Amino acid sequence: MRSHLLNDTTADVYRRSVTEGVERVAGKLASTRGPFTGVTPAALAPVIDAVDLDRPLGDSSAALDELEDVYLRDAVYFHHPRYLGHLNCPVVIPAVLGEAVLSAVNSSLDTWDQSAGGTLIERKLIDWTAGRIGLGPLADGVFTSGGTQSNLQALLLAREEAGATDLSKLRIFSSECSHFSVQKSAQLLGLGRDAVVAVPVDADKRMQSVVLAAELEACRAEGLVPMAIVATAGTTDFGSIDPLPEIAALAAEYGAWMHVDAAYGCGLLASRTRRHLLDGIERADSVTVDYHKSFFQPVSSSAVLVRDGATLRHATYHADYLNPLRTLAEQIPNQVDKSLQTTRRFDALKLWMTLRVMGADGIGELFDEVCDLAAEGFALLTADPRYEVVVEPRLSTLVYRYVPEGAASPEEVDRANLHARKALFASGEAVVAGTKVDGRQYLKFTLLNPETSAADIAAVLDLIAGHAEQYLGENLVHAAS
Ligand SMILES: Cc1ncc(COP(=O)(O)O)c(C=O)c1O
Repeated sequence: MRSHLLNDTTADVYRRSVTEGVERVAGKLASTRGPFTGVTPAALAPVIDAVDLDRPLGDSSAALDELEDVYLRDAVYFHHPRYLGHLNCPVVIPAVLGEAVLSAVNSSLDTWDQSAGGTLIERKLIDWTAGRIGLGPLADGVFTSGGTQSNLQALLLAREEAGATDLSKLRIFSSECSHFSVQKSAQLLGLGRDAVVAVPVDADKRMQSVVLAAELEACRAEGLVPMAIVATAGTTDFGSIDPLPEIAALAAEYGAWMHVDAAYGCGLLASRTRRHLLDGIERADSVTVDYHKSFFQPVSSSAVLVRDGATLRHATYHADYLNPLRTLAEQIPNQVDKSLQTTRRFDALKLWMTLRVMGADGIGELFDEVCDLAAEGFALLTADPRYEVVVEPRLSTLVYRYVPEGAASPEEVDRANLHARKALFASGEAVVAGTKVDGRQYLKFTLLNPETSAADIAAVLDLIAGHAEQYLGENLVHAAS
């Protein structure tokens, strides 16, 4: 069994196995006809059930053959130009190379004695990101598992900085379009049920700062504590960016922590043409960035940044077996003092390789391309009488729905759109997402693949219309008879 351990004696096995795995995936990339096969859970479950985990196959080739059946054939492929579903991106090759290196070396980014240069590389990338944001000389941060964890950590710091003893008095203000991890964090942080105040958005799905001001005033008048304002820079559905300068001014006026959730919008940090859309972000107390959304990095790659690195102490504990106080006095760098995690992947290496090979401009160009593509998609949708579209995209999502020509009740229109989404997924020809707007069913394209063309968007719109029409045809005829 030792022949399976990666070490100096098994370098050849490692080389062969990984190369074989890479070959299989490379072959897959070249041969996938759609983003998905349309397999159902009912069809796939027995295939996976049939695998006897107590009977190992013994060699990687056999396991890779089996993997074809249990995973690779039916995976959802984000690199495919017609994957237009959630906030998943195709990945850049330098980052995948970084991934291969980091899992083989297997550094853990908690302490220096488990990571050495890894700690310094992560720190340099944090400084680089904080510099791009403009957080100032005291800024710091740490890589996290994703936007959810980054938001949680930011709000933990905000809670501690608020210094209140009665947690039920703390309030977080975020727009009604903010990510659900804000609510989840409030719950995990022991704040009351009413802790998150949902501020309405304007027609462009941006937080209404006038209403925010009124809510903050009401909060103060009721003797409550405005703990934090969460501004979203790139909402999940609409890519809308809250008015950051106005929110920063209100946060300062009411003594609230300003957190910017730029999980999606962070790609703008690398853009040469759209960086100004984030103006005001430099005034944040903390920022969430998800490189695994708009920096084309493999999952996970994410970070939370703070204006004042000293606030990260709220996540610090010293353990004799890991990070004793002595190491602080000896100035041995570690990242565990700043993190909610202990053992932690060296995800930063992927971004490092990306910047060293392509540079930030390379990433920014890719993100600009998908934002341009969304503008083209918007033009297609507005010109198409079969569809209505909710807002002009700021980033790279489009929320729209099929509207039939003849009379159909709002419920039927909802069902037709939902059906179209499901039928499309089952066909495997394309993957789109769905959401609700004012209680009605809508569909969503999240465009993060620069390989997707306007022709792909047009073709998918035809497919959706076909499924919706067929559904309405069958059901309206059925209802009439
Ligand atoms: C605006 C926003 N914030 C946070 C998150 C959560 O990020 P993650 O899925 O990496 O935890 C998302 C995910 O889509 C998001 O869109």
